[in-house]
Amino acid sequence: MNITLTPEWQSLLQHQTRLEQKHLRDLFAEDPQRFKRFSAELDGLLIDYSKQRIDQPALDGLLALARLSNVEAWRDRMFSGEKINISEDRAVLHTALRNMDFKPFPNAEHDVMPQVRAVRKQMRDIVERVRSGLWRGFKGDAIQNIVNIGIGGSDLGPKLATRALSAMQHPNLNFYYVSNLDSAHLAPLLEELDPRTTLFIVASKTFTTQETSINAHTARTWLMAAAMEEWAIGKHFIAVTSSPDKAREFGIPDTNILTIWDWVGGRYSLWSAVGLSVALAIGMSGFERMLQGAETMDKHFCATPLEHNLPVLMALISVWNTNFLGAETTAILPYNESIRHLPAFLQQLEMESNGKTVGRNGEPLTCRANPIVWGEIGVNGQHAFFQLLHQGGWLIPCDFVVAASSDHPLPGHQAPLLANCLAQSAALAFGKTESQAREELTNAGLNEAQIATLLPHKVFAGNQPSTTILMPALDPFQLGMLLALYEHKVFVQGVIWGINSFDQWGVELGKQLANRLLPAILGNQDYDAQLDTSTSGLIAYFRRHGHV
Ligand code: F6P
Repeated sequence: MNITLTPEWQSLLQHQTRLEQKHLRDLFAEDPQRFKRFSAELDGLLIDYSKQRIDQPALDGLLALARLSNVEAWRDRMFSGEKINISEDRAVLHTALRNMDFKPFPNAEHDVMPQVRAVRKQMRDIVERVRSGLWRGFKGDAIQNIVNIGIGGSDLGPKLATRALSAMQHPNLNFYYVSNLDSAHLAPLLEELDPRTTLFIVASKTFTTQETSINAHTARTWLMAAAMEEWAIGKHFIAVTSSPDKAREFGIPDTNILTIWDWVGGRYSLWSAVGLSVALAIGMSGFERMLQGAETMDKHFCATPLEHNLPVLMALISVWNTNFLGAETTAILPYNESIRHLPAFLQQLEMESNGKTVGRNGEPLTCRANPIVWGEIGVNGQHAFFQLLHQGGWLIPCDFVVAASSDHPLPGHQAPLLANCLAQSAALAFGKTESQAREELTNAGLNEAQIATLLPHKVFAGNQPSTTILMPALDPFQLGMLLALYEHKVFVQGVIWGINSFDQWGVELGKQLANRLLPAILGNQDYDAQLDTSTSGLIAYFRRHGHV
């Protein structure tokens, strides 16, 4: 089906032509109930989408599009364990990882819960031993430093969550995340850390990812230089992987290998043992509270009618902005320092899942799919790129994300932080008209000539759509809900666009080429004739200047 030719799509296009005559100022003026109508709350998580450029007919039309795309049926297929990741022939069951029920899941015949619970137990044992100081290094010292070595989904989720929940972090443990192949990431850390008190978690679903493998081997060499004995690896290395054989080859004993499964996508793996560093930081009960938050969102997603379903509404708004308003990018603006990694996490979640132009049926998509996701801590952005958001003339929908109370409170900080967050979304939505700007300049005592010079610079077009997501506090439960909200939003968008959101073939070509170019960088000239002139020119530069 070419979704863009359906009556549902066409009538949304027509509606948008009518609606674009209206500014957000008009939409708010027309409807005093607008906030009430276009906001929703689930267990304290408040989503205000009233500053999006929608009205009720637009939302109704988008809901019709969701029904036409069989969103509910696809959701049920995912939760029932069907192999909806067709290009990899895999089920998509990360929701099992946060299923806290004692019932079989997804069904009695293929119940994955016994394995999930067994690994949770293994995590709990490790977490309790490390946090209590019972886990000892090769010289008998308690662990003080945890280094997670991983990349992509094996880095971004745990790094985000550990930082987000830092207020609850164990006082005697320090956490580090190493992902970059550039030795400038690992080297300064190894200089600082003591091998006797350092525990590495090698998080890699495949255990073949080049960046992780090279960093892990360097860390092992560093440990062995101090410990000298192979058995020390068992005191200082844990693996989280779906390839236990490869972890064994690395030297990690079975007791330290935590399994994940092929039905957990890398970018959906925070809820698995990939989240071990989070559990070490906040304790297993804190980690399980995060799982409960995600499970709450799963249950809401499964049971709530589409018109009140938060991930569905978020997805529909994104489809509206992308396909009907023509937005090419979207900004994620966390205001709490502790969720500073949210934009990076969502970049992978959204763009690796839906950054595609081919549908699950192998046919080219008939509409544009995922916008470019980017973002930064909100207040930092205010003093950097917000100028362009306000007056740059681009349509850039924003998600403002903020917790009502601070996780690291100091007197005098939180209220101004919240004021800034709310001021920005209001300024983006409502702008400043020419007559408002003129009045301000007149009141400031400027003469006509001065006003004429300044006026064009003081006008703000506004009409920039945004959603504000508020949490009462940054706690594990709210974080779990927030991240699961975005996961399901991405899924629903994928369904509407006709995409398999769970593969990522687009990252493979670069990996293949890097492997092919490595010998050339190292000086092997056998393949030089096959290289394009740009690549060979750049390699020649490395051969002259690099120290490989
Ligand atoms: O290259 C992309 C990717 O496959 C991501 O999907 C994944 O999160 C990341 O690499 C890391 O993969 P692994 O956990 O297998 O090391």
